[in-house]
Amino acid sequence: MDLKEPYVAAPDRYDVGDKMFRRCGRSGVLLPKISLGFWKNFGYAAPYERSRAIARYAFDHGIVHFDLANNYGPPYGTGEETFGRLMDDDFRPYRDELFISTKAGYDMWPGPYGNWGSRKYLISSLDQSLRRMRLDYVDLFYSHRFDPNTPLEETLQALVDVVKRGKALYVGISRWPLQALQFAEKYLRDRDVPLLIYQDRVNLLDHAPIEEGKLDFCRDNGIGFVSFSPLAQGLLTDRYLNGIAEDSRMALNFSLKRSALTPELLEELQDLNRQAAERGETLAESALAWVLEQPGVTSVIVGVSRVEQLAVDLKAIAKTS
Ligand SMILES: NC(=O)c1ccc[n+]([C@@H]2O[C@H](COP(=O)([O-])OP(=O)(O)OC[C@H]3O[C@@H](n4cnc5c(N)ncnc54)[C@H](OP(=O)(O)O)[C@@H]3O)[C@@H](O)[C@H]2O)c1
Repeated sequence: MDLKEPYVAAPDRYDVGDKMFRRCGRSGVLLPKISLGFWKNFGYAAPYERSRAIARYAFDHGIVHFDLANNYGPPYGTGEETFGRLMDDDFRPYRDELFISTKAGYDMWPGPYGNWGSRKYLISSLDQSLRRMRLDYVDLFYSHRFDPNTPLEETLQALVDVVKRGKALYVGISRWPLQALQFAEKYLRDRDVPLLIYQDRVNLLDHAPIEEGKLDFCRDNGIGFVSFSPLAQGLLTDRYLNGIAEDSRMALNFSLKRSALTPELLEELQDLNRQAAERGETLAESALAWVLEQPGVTSVIVGVSRVEQLAVDLKAIAKTS
């Protein structure tokens, strides 16, 4: 891949204007409707120049929010390390135009302090993330998952304290049950560190957070809602309509298992694809637009393994209000 050196961001990167950005809950932050996730395709297992081309293309098209976590890779930590390299190679001059999130919550290092929701884990993990990402602070730090064994006050106070110490500007939580989300909203508001974002999975095949009332709760309480895996890891694209491509995520049979592609699901995907085609859209575009049209959704975080996919995904923006 022939990448221009040094990187100069596209001068027209904000030309899509108002169509691209949405206010994140009741806050001063605007987020692009499409954000870029670093879960897959940015670790050491992916070619650096390909990851770099994707990140450049994203930023050149107004995608100013990159979503990371301590365990993104593979191997763990290398999604953040690649991001750190990208900062040095391309994005340092644009730091103030970027909104960078990271998270801690899953198993990251051995022993009792490398997992879940203790203050010990969250604060050390964020320090490690900042070193890997070559940043002084992140814009957003998340508790990546609900920990049933740690008092919620301990997890939430750690989030408050990373903001007070200037290591994060805002805080978020991901995949917490509704009652715990409600508790978090009040705890954080009472300490003047309002919950900026709740992150969970909403897509055409899985809308549990809507049925469980989480999206309504966020909308009613001024919390931004960001959906991860809006394309169901690629199922809601043309990727699997004609079998399992060798270079697809499903071919790895890890986070997206081959067994997920049942004949019933394939039929449903083909039907959705037909409906999208009747509207002159791709399945990916219409799946993203559907999530973005759910009242209260701020942004969808897509993953892509190549620039061309991101170009298709960005078309969804034109279909949204
Ligand atoms: N909070 C959490 O617990 C949590 C959990 C999971 C993810 N996340 C966040 O959400 C982000 C996105 O998750 P995800 O990667 O599962 O998202 P996704 O957008 O649902 O799936 C991404 C995959 O879809 C395929 N794809 C995307 N656009 C395509 C297109 N136009 N045409 C054909 N295929 C296309 C690619 O598959 P191939 O690789 O096969 O090409 C790509 O890797 C992550 O990076 C992470 O930041 C958060």
